[in-house]
Amino acid sequence: MNKDLLELFENNLEQFVSGEEISQKLNCSRTAVWKQIQNLRKLGYEFEAVPRKGYRLVYAPAKLDPVKLTAQLRTKIMGSSLRIYDEVDSTQNLAHELVRQGCPEGTVILAEEQTSGRGRMGKAWHSPKGKGIWMSVILKPHIPLKQTSQLTLLTAVALCRTLRKGLGINVGIKWPNDLLIDGRKISGILLESSGEDDRLNYVVAGIGISVNLDAADFPEALAEQATSLRIVYGKPLDRIDIICRFLEEFEDLYLLYLQQGFSPIRTLWEALTISLNRPLKIRTHDGWIEGTAENIDDAGALTVKTADGERIKLFSGDIQF
Ligand code: BTN
Repeated sequence: MNKDLLELFENNLEQFVSGEEISQKLNCSRTAVWKQIQNLRKLGYEFEAVPRKGYRLVYAPAKLDPVKLTAQLRTKIMGSSLRIYDEVDSTQNLAHELVRQGCPEGTVILAEEQTSGRGRMGKAWHSPKGKGIWMSVILKPHIPLKQTSQLTLLTAVALCRTLRKGLGINVGIKWPNDLLIDGRKISGILLESSGEDDRLNYVVAGIGISVNLDAADFPEALAEQATSLRIVYGKPLDRIDIICRFLEEFEDLYLLYLQQGFSPIRTLWEALTISLNRPLKIRTHDGWIEGTAENIDDAGALTVKTADGERIKLFSGDIQF
């Protein structure tokens, strides 16, 4: 019925269709029509509802179309191979599998929905259908294994610059790689790598961006901490446009990194972060640390000065201000 109902609206673009007309044409009750409209709203469709006039379709979310994406993308490496799926457990899992099958650097895996999206430190990543960008990118840089966290910071810089430039939104990076707007998380990055001895074999950069989620799309536990671009920007956004602009920025910074090392990325990261020079608490695998973050070092570690004046270096953790 979803399909028939959508067809009816698509044939009556700009016009109101009454609940009665819909129920007659689709041979169902008015309650069933209302339920279907609610279902479509959950999938991102927007309807104007006016008493005695009925419903008018005002926005239909676009699916991630590989043809459109490829036509719009101006990169050489990132997205040179592109896989788009309707539903996966996690794009990270697929990426690891594709590397085993010999997929090239720059392969991008996207999904409309993830049923077991994962985040940092063992957390789940909420990835509802058609509402966000759930993407993994395969990288194979010739760098030592211990420099992998530099790529985490690079990914955060690329995404932060993409959103700032394209939408004019004041996004900041919370160490190591969360993007926040007004204290609420808009995006998360998860880097998974594989290597032997000191040699890095490959990295999967997982990027989750809450693009078109409504407040109601977030589970209660995230309601206070998370937001979406749509909520901040006030209208739905084109995911393909954001993906293309991100991949272009990502490629530029990646090539800069391969040529000039971490130094320029570090400068950019420090300019975009909200984590330095303020008191904070950090949850690490070994417990809580309190202090002030001073900078990131050449390896990409955060230097924290603790209350008793000791300086410690951290590669991962969860900051609370
Ligand atoms: C975090 O903030 O904890 C990181 C979240 C990373 C989520 C992305 S969505 C695409 C990719 N697939 C996953 O399962 N996770 C990453």
